[in-house]
Amino acid sequence: MNPSSFPYGRGFRSLTREIDAPMALAVQGELPSWLAGTLLRTGPSKFEVGNRTYNHWFDGLAMLHRFAFERGSVTYANRFLRSKAFGAAERTGKISFGEFATDPCRTLFGRVAAIFAPKLTDNCNVNVLRFGGETVAFTETTLPMRFDPETLATLGVYGYEGRLRGQVSTAHAHYDAARAQHYSYMVEFGRKSLYRLFRVADDGAQAVVAEIPVDLPAYMHSFAMTERYLVLVEFPMVVSALALKFSGRPFIQNYRWQPGRGLRFHVVDKDSGRVVRSACADAAFAFHHVNAYEEGDGLVIDMIAYPDATIIEQLYLARLREGLPITATGVLTRFRVPLGEAPITRRSLAPMPLELPRINYEVCAGKFYRYVWGTGIQLPGDFLDQIVKIDAEAGDVASWYEGGCYPGEPVFVARPGAEAEDDGVLLSVALDIENDRSFLLVLDATTLAEKARAVAPHAIPFHFHGNYFASAATGEHRDLT
Ligand SMILES: [Fe+2]
Repeated sequence: MNPSSFPYGRGFRSLTREIDAPMALAVQGELPSWLAGTLLRTGPSKFEVGNRTYNHWFDGLAMLHRFAFERGSVTYANRFLRSKAFGAAERTGKISFGEFATDPCRTLFGRVAAIFAPKLTDNCNVNVLRFGGETVAFTETTLPMRFDPETLATLGVYGYEGRLRGQVSTAHAHYDAARAQHYSYMVEFGRKSLYRLFRVADDGAQAVVAEIPVDLPAYMHSFAMTERYLVLVEFPMVVSALALKFSGRPFIQNYRWQPGRGLRFHVVDKDSGRVVRSACADAAFAFHHVNAYEEGDGLVIDMIAYPDATIIEQLYLARLREGLPITATGVLTRFRVPLGEAPITRRSLAPMPLELPRINYEVCAGKFYRYVWGTGIQLPGDFLDQIVKIDAEAGDVASWYEGGCYPGEPVFVARPGAEAEDDGVLLSVALDIENDRSFLLVLDATTLAEKARAVAPHAIPFHFHGNYFASAATGEHRDLT
């Protein structure tokens, strides 16, 4: 190991073992007796195919993980998503679909064929949502995959119909409980490219909300939603549709950082589809929006901001596997976007950097809120090694840290009957380097005190997102995007 490296590199090694039948995990501490649901997560788990290695953390083949809670106990199971990308890799021993930063193996003929009919990947390793009445895994293409939340069996593509066309989309659709709709967007590349905002109802009905023409589409991982509006924030990391089609480079390597374009906010009325404001601020980059809401004559839009897009470069596997020093966190930043002509303003809300932000989504999505939970960095240069909580109003911060452990995204689950926004628990999958095992960590969401942990039968590679779904018997719709 490089003497200036950290042990986090273990989190970027493949896990290929599957546990089909849920196995009971030993629990240290006490799980809340009211936890009666399932935490479903997805993430990259296989980074080698044949003699090749994927280039980037975002490229690995997706595995689904399931933690099911009942009366103070928890079971675990995990299975690969049987996508076409996975199937072709298994069958041929070759990387057969282009991923975020990896091109497929191609013969000369195959290369020409791929340019004219590119195969979008269905390797849904980014997020899991209850979407249009189904349990669905997402990546950043328009090929989400349905799966069985009990058995983790892959069921097939979640199909978009009619005018819902495009190549690139987001794994972070928003859910509007009042309208019983998910909102999302896709990017259609062509001679005239456009952003297409759309909605999917709980019964599966699909409709276009708005279309926004764009000359050079931006790389956007997520977007913002308030009660009345959808907000697309174009980061100045942009691509030419022609370059994307003909360059022969992996997807993200076609994008260029053009800070002179600034940060472009497009505010769209959910019901009329009208663009009510397009305005610019100084350049910034983000993967994750945190929350947004209407206040006075404008919108508050919070995101985890970076000065530029170099974070993408830091997440290539070769570097991560060495455990080299890294900065994998941004700053919780608040933009105020007036709906009139006034300029956009920005300020940071807390000095503690973080990533993989979560909120009490069920209560606060699109509305005023206070609390953000996420992963942060205790040791400078280390990978995400602690859980943090930020009070966005007061600027107060708190953290949970244990040396040698790397906790993932903390998913908030409200205590039944809770009145306070932060009354509940956080569920996070942490990697314990010394014991070479991951464990499910349960923290008190108010204090970040540990309530329980349950050790998994193997080390789970670092992954991205998931959600907690209350048992169907409760009749609750818990969809914490
Ligand atoms: Fe994400």
